[in-house]
Amino acid sequence: MFSITHKFYLFCSLAFLLSGLTNCNKQAEQKNNNTTTNMPVSTQPQQDIHTFARPQEVVMQHLNLELSVDFKQQILKGKATCAIKNLAKTNKFYVDTKDLQIEKVEIGQQSTTFKLGEEKAFLGRPLEIDIFGSTDSVTIYYQTSPTAEALQWLSAAQTAGKKAPYLFTQSQAILARTWIPCQDSPGIRFTYQAKINVPENLLAVMSANNPTEKNTKGEYFFKMDKAIPAYLLALAVGDFSFKPTGTRTGVYAEAASLDKAVAEFADMEKMLEAAEKLYGQYDWGRYDVLVMPPSFPFGGMENPKLTFVTPTIITGDQSLVSLVAHELAHSWSGNLVTNATWADFWLNEGFTVYFERRIMEAVYGKQYAAMLELIGLQDVKDEIVAMNNGEDTKLKIDLANRNPDDGVTHIAYEKGFFFLRTIEEAVGREKFDAFVKQYFKTFAYQSITTEQFLDYLNKNLLDALPAAKEKINAQQWIYATGLPTNHPTLKSEQFAYVDTCIAAWLNGSSPTLFKTSQWTTHEWLRFVRSLPENITLEQMTVLDNTFKLSNTNNAEIAAVWFVLAAKKDYKTAYLPMEKFLTQVGRRKFIVPIYQALYKNANPQTKNWAEQTYKRARAGYHAVAVVTLDKLFG
Ligand code: BES
Ligand code: ZN
Repeated sequence: MFSITHKFYLFCSLAFLLSGLTNCNKQAEQKNNNTTTNMPVSTQPQQDIHTFARPQEVVMQHLNLELSVDFKQQILKGKATCAIKNLAKTNKFYVDTKDLQIEKVEIGQQSTTFKLGEEKAFLGRPLEIDIFGSTDSVTIYYQTSPTAEALQWLSAAQTAGKKAPYLFTQSQAILARTWIPCQDSPGIRFTYQAKINVPENLLAVMSANNPTEKNTKGEYFFKMDKAIPAYLLALAVGDFSFKPTGTRTGVYAEAASLDKAVAEFADMEKMLEAAEKLYGQYDWGRYDVLVMPPSFPFGGMENPKLTFVTPTIITGDQSLVSLVAHELAHSWSGNLVTNATWADFWLNEGFTVYFERRIMEAVYGKQYAAMLELIGLQDVKDEIVAMNNGEDTKLKIDLANRNPDDGVTHIAYEKGFFFLRTIEEAVGREKFDAFVKQYFKTFAYQSITTEQFLDYLNKNLLDALPAAKEKINAQQWIYATGLPTNHPTLKSEQFAYVDTCIAAWLNGSSPTLFKTSQWTTHEWLRFVRSLPENITLEQMTVLDNTFKLSNTNNAEIAAVWFVLAAKKDYKTAYLPMEKFLTQVGRRKFIVPIYQALYKNANPQTKNWAEQTYKRARAGYHAVAVVTLDKLFG
């Protein structure tokens, strides 16, 4: 009588009425929207292909986690209780796992049967648990494996203080399942609480309400009472302490770096206020930052209430704090309004880069933000060239049978940014800001697809402004490759001066004449990145002698200089480069350096790169190792 889709709609509406859960109802809505907007077939919204969970049948609502942290064996051991809603009254509950050892599963105090399915590339194994139609809670007893990809276990020697070990997690994109059996999809949100036992003298913190002091028992309790997707579950254990930077903001760091970090992040409270002024109230209570060990594979991770940041942004001159603005901005774009699948990742990151630059403009001025935009423009242009203008240069990408990590490129970040910046320019800031604020409010605590965003954009902003709508051409931005040319033209006085310096130098003037004393990291980045392709080793030596580029303590500048050095086989840089590669694990820095070394025509250099990687590998996080193993294949 009814087609399958009709049954699906009926079922979803019913489930919605019964449960108050909007997840599958929203999917039905998307389908409707799509038929009216004539989306190409390949861009029809899909279910999350990176999970074994079946949220239309059973959906997780709360997680109660109890774990002990065993540094000797490098495992987490304990239990995860999932409060569930059995929408379809089915007798199977599927959760994601990867490299987990499942000991037993219980419903109430009764054990129940379960099966671990076949291992799939990237995804791990589905855990199929036998339940009843009436089951509302399931407890999984388990332990992690020492090779769990989300976890990095550091010996005391690998930390700043050198006295205590350190453990941290990195769950995004699909690694939560390597330390917690759960429905690991950005479209599924749940609240959580946790009890974590750690060795004496260590503190545990999570993406939740956090302690500020150690206790003698080594037992810590956590609560996150806002529903979040699994990729935002986070834990760190180490010998760190806390200092406030304002009433709602503060820093956790190892004692050795705490004061420096507090000075570097002194403007955090101001950033938070600027963010709220732009797009509405901060909904998460506190906003704190935890300074990670240098092997942290990312710049930052927006774990709710507690951003994890790389220590490489602590330069002493606050010049890299836009990264904190970025992670803070995720408290709206990403953590409130979340990409429904990893193919919609640009919704998280593009919006966040836009918001980040608005915070930076509010706190540090237009000229500062303009420099960030120009660097972003260069990033996305370079990325498009590197990708041969291929399919992955679309905002909405196809991740079928792929690791969602493949989508973590400048396209999501910077093409996403320029799309939004183009809309801002076409409709005017006032209208755009009102729209963005309403967007965050409308979709708070929901996960949405690109198509839902586009539909909302048209209905709430562009349909009423047909000239702007045509000028923007959102379809092209989202579904076509490359960078559309209708984005605003950018200008920066500071960068114009840097460009003049380079031109003068190429015309024979001495680099000692440049007025560089006021240059921040961004001018230096512009400088190094604008040096000509055919620069000679002699020219590099002159610049290096003048500006001490090979020995800079600023990791961001070092990283771009080392890429150039590796391309040109400029050997003076190799000693400091080796030190850098063995100390810093931030993927964005080390991958391009290794790539350039590996591509080098000199077989000795290639060999040296391989040897250096072999030595450094044990100190890197699994996320970086996966990428680099591919390179050195
Ligand atoms: N959420 C990302 C980091 C991430 C993305 C981890 C995808 C795993 C998968 C975070 O907000 C981020 O974008 N970090 C950037 C810094 C930012 C200033 C561009 C980074 O780590 O470089
Ligand atoms: Zn981000």
